[in-house]
Amino acid sequence: MVLSLTDEFRRIRRLRHDDVPQLMIWDNDPALFHLTGKKFAHDEDETQWWNQLIRDRSRLMFAIVNDDGQLIGDVELQQILWRAREAEIRISIGDKAFWAQGFGSEALQEMLYAAFQLLSLERVYLRVRLDNGRAIRAYEKVGFRAVARLTATGRLSGFPDLQLMEVTRARYAPLSKRA
Ligand SMILES: CC(C)(COP(=O)(O)OP(=O)(O)OC[C@H]1O[C@@H](n2cnc3c(N)ncnc32)[C@H](O)[C@@H]1OP(=O)(O)O)[C@@H](O)C(=O)NCCC(=O)NCCS
Repeated sequence: MVLSLTDEFRRIRRLRHDDVPQLMIWDNDPALFHLTGKKFAHDEDETQWWNQLIRDRSRLMFAIVNDDGQLIGDVELQQILWRAREAEIRISIGDKAFWAQGFGSEALQEMLYAAFQLLSLERVYLRVRLDNGRAIRAYEKVGFRAVARLTATGRLSGFPDLQLMEVTRARYAPLSKRA
């Protein structure tokens, strides 16, 4: 599903079909997918994936761009439950040259603005590896708080523990120009 952003956003824009090949390249980077998991199945057809994405009412995906408008990553609301007014957020800056310079937290702030102010959601949550300190710090900066520790059991035994974090409309740190 494509959300038409009515406001001016600096760090995110709607994902385009021609962004997908770069996302597929980043998706195969082990340094990334061990933190994020994989978005694409092995040998997935790009156009088929895009056509599914734009029809899926439970997902909204955006490109993250640098100051020159160049694609550096993506941020997504997924598992959107419109009646329950909640969604899971997922983010990945694929271009590592842009890590830890504030781009991620800016993109998160803009995505949360869209979630809470434009889409009227009440709660956004995420799962993050406990050893991913940079991501946890970025999430805390925009208002996320840890609510539970998820320990892998059963067939997932051996996978790293995750932190469940959430932010509500009342708690998120709004963009200063819109505060
Ligand atoms: C997670 C991610 C989106 C964060 O975006 P970012 O632009 O790198 O983060 P920001 O610069 O906005 O904030 C990072 C914060 O963590 C701090 N930080 C950096 N490395 C850190 C580390 N190893 N441990 C703890 N904090 C760290 C930074 O100093 C900064 O905090 P500050 O502004 O208070 O100084 C980005 O790094 C990324 O895509 N990483 C790879 C994929 C990933 O981990 N995705 C999340 C999966 S849940």
